[in-house]
Amino acid sequence: MLRNRLNRGGGRTQRPFSSPATWQGSAKIRSSGWCTKAAASDAPAVPIKAVAEARTVVGKITEPTGRTDKGLIDTQPPRGTRDFFPEDMRLRNWLFGEFAAVSTAFGFEQFDAPVLESEELFVRKAGEEITDQLYNFEDKGQRRVALRPELTPSLARLVLQRGRTLPLPAKWFAIGQCWRYERMTRGRRREHYQWNMDIVGVAGVEAEAELLAAIVTFFERVGLSKDDVGVKVSSRKVLQSVLTQYGVPPESFARVCIIVDKLDKLPRDKVEEELRVLGVPPATIDGVLSALSIRSLEELSRLLGPDSEAVADLTRLFQLAEGYGYKDWLVFDPSVVRGLAYYTGIVFEGFDREGKLRAICGGGRYDRLLGAFGGDNAPMAGFGFGDAVIVELLKEKGKLPAPPHRVDDVVVPLDTALRPAASGIASRLRRAGRSVDLVLENKKMKWAFKHAEKLNASRLVLVGASEWERGKVVVKDLAKFHQEEVPVEDLI
Ligand code: HAM
Repeated sequence: MLRNRLNRGGGRTQRPFSSPATWQGSAKIRSSGWCTKAAASDAPAVPIKAVAEARTVVGKITEPTGRTDKGLIDTQPPRGTRDFFPEDMRLRNWLFGEFAAVSTAFGFEQFDAPVLESEELFVRKAGEEITDQLYNFEDKGQRRVALRPELTPSLARLVLQRGRTLPLPAKWFAIGQCWRYERMTRGRRREHYQWNMDIVGVAGVEAEAELLAAIVTFFERVGLSKDDVGVKVSSRKVLQSVLTQYGVPPESFARVCIIVDKLDKLPRDKVEEELRVLGVPPATIDGVLSALSIRSLEELSRLLGPDSEAVADLTRLFQLAEGYGYKDWLVFDPSVVRGLAYYTGIVFEGFDREGKLRAICGGGRYDRLLGAFGGDNAPMAGFGFGDAVIVELLKEKGKLPAPPHRVDDVVVPLDTALRPAASGIASRLRRAGRSVDLVLENKKMKWAFKHAEKLNASRLVLVGASEWERGKVVVKDLAKFHQEEVPVEDLI
């Protein structure tokens, strides 16, 4: 579509949603000179001249420019999705590097699966939001497919594929893009990347304790403390016990969980209404809601009795957390039930203590997912951790790093005839493992210095005629303000 939302008056762009489109946020101004300051934070770099020349409004070209019969395409990515400019990619690579570093420190192995999966993998009938938000369609071979909204069903598919040949326990992690047709709020968008860590084959809460330890390790690595963030923990068995006490049939359990999960988004009477529509009697609704307001394990134990599995699991989990040393990061909160149908036991959600943002991460135990796909069940537990909310939080706390673009060396031929020599020098340095920016055009020395500074280079290697004749180059150490002639064969 020949469409352009940019107006003529200098390239300012109105984004259709409030949060910044890129990870850099509004503080970052693109320095290329292609954007105005206002547009810099959230618009892609579009030459102002090109914008002025395009002279279009949404949907059609209003006035022929006389210069081109083609309007400028819409340079914005589809609504709710993001472009990653190099500075955004540096940040993303940093974040994914932290995710991967934590996972490998815990002995997990990485896996991936296609972003496009068969739709049936995600079709569940429990009324989850995630199902309504599915990006699904028919492909050219009339197959129903979907862009994955989460990684867990794909993980289950891979586990089923390996079947009994998979050595258990398996500890796997993934970092992948997920798609959900979401109503956009701060930190929620239509595509996001999710870090997942899952353990297959461990029935005890030792698995959940290890997963929580990984989450806390990540928080610490990125500079967050237990005063900034915490993890709310509960067990679906709490709700299950209460529903059993009131005689609610087990088939209704997943649906009740999904409705109860909306408590922090919808007014209480709306949630009660949905439960009533499902056929949950008013006395049961009161019982459920009052159980969810409990805030201590002692109180829970009094409600559910001494033999309660929920109490035993949670008590054990808190003991393990104490052993690991992260107990203070955890908050017991039975109102956390999670909005996905497949959880069967411990559930947890990372939150910011100021309560400004949506869940930072979430997970739990799902021991019956493989069975739902027609396989043999296996105990499974894991979590998903999105990229968007954590970036918002780090930005807010002033803890978002700005990883620089940097190279080791900038190699500059001092005239055209010396370009082959400079190319050889660059190749030699690259073979030695150094990152090298080779200047490809004739540039003045002043430019070369500025360029090296911009790239945070540690050295400037000048290939000049007189030194080259003597088999040498000039190496300027930019940190020590020192320069020397170095024989080419000694150059590393
Ligand atoms: P989830 O709670 O739906 O769980 O998502 C996990 C995390 O992904 C959220 O806490 C949030 O950080 C991020 N996230 C989800 N949707 C969006 C969105 N639209 N925009 C930005 N970030 C988002 C799951 O997906 C489970 N499969 C997690 C899991 C893995 N459970 C066991 N293993």
